[in-house]
Amino acid sequence: MDTVVSGIRSTGNLHLGNYFGAIKNFLKMQKENSCYFFIADYHALTTHPKPDDLHGNIKQVLAEYLACGIDPDIATVFIQSDVPEVSELYLLMNMNAYVGELERTASFKDIIRKQPDNINAGLLTYPVLMAADIIIHKANKVPVGKDQEQHVEMTRRFARRFNMMYEVNYFPEPDAYNFGQQLIKIPGLDGSGKMGKSEGNGIFLSDTPQEIKKKVMRAVTDTGPTSPNQEPTEPVKNLFTVMNVVSEPDTVKFFKEKHASCQIRYGDMKKQLAEDIVKFTHPIRERITEISSDNKYLARVVKGGSEKARASASKTIKEVRQIIGYKSF
Ligand code: TRP
Repeated sequence: MDTVVSGIRSTGNLHLGNYFGAIKNFLKMQKENSCYFFIADYHALTTHPKPDDLHGNIKQVLAEYLACGIDPDIATVFIQSDVPEVSELYLLMNMNAYVGELERTASFKDIIRKQPDNINAGLLTYPVLMAADIIIHKANKVPVGKDQEQHVEMTRRFARRFNMMYEVNYFPEPDAYNFGQQLIKIPGLDGSGKMGKSEGNGIFLSDTPQEIKKKVMRAVTDTGPTSPNQEPTEPVKNLFTVMNVVSEPDTVKFFKEKHASCQIRYGDMKKQLAEDIVKFTHPIRERITEISSDNKYLARVVKGGSEKARASASKTIKEVRQIIGYKSF
């Protein structure tokens, strides 16, 4: 059985991009693999959340995970900060991660452009913490969206480097994993780029039908195709991408044909898209509400999950300390 590890940062409600880029894969994988799914609340600290918000954010993502169908009876569901062994491995792995390679990471270069007033060392070593999350359970597969591929590639490199440095064959090299042929990237509705939690272009699983309608109707389009079989422009292509994952194939086909024959009315397309998104998110949203109000259940899930995660993590830490050369007196 393969071991699977994946995490989601607790920096805001889950959106359609999280669902189709990550969670959908988790659901397929949990049955056939030994899965560790966690809330990356240490990673969330890089953006300096307020103490008053931290716990609520973690709880929200946890409830959303469970509402999507992640099953704590078969997968290990836990909170990153409940497993202190991860921070020890992070410290140890930092010793053979090079500043140059960390500075060249695409996500780091991106974030220093986005938040120039808070370029903390945690951002620089973000991939090291992520690698620790993954290799502490000796994972083989890491289901992530396209934007995380480079981090998984770095994890492979850190694992390989550790093995070479200590002449062991200890850590497996994990693969970024997706059930489809391609890692899916769900675009935002503002014309370009991916759907993000902080970009203000996302549709959240917890959005009300009214909010969803409003967001979809406001989505960027263009002035319409001018010649038959014209390639859709970027913002219109984005709408089709979202439609592809939530609507029936016939619906997509219908609007593709309308576009190809220059008869498309974007208003109709958006109305249909909003309806299909609501149909998809509605049952999830109901479960989120239900689960969030059941603190006893959440406490039970988190306790069971952290026990299982710590059992696996502490075994690795013990072995890693031995490999590195620590001995007890
Ligand atoms: N960096 C991931 C993200 O932002 C979250 C994450 C943290 C993660 N640790 C991980 C994903 C380990 C997979 C495996 O989406």
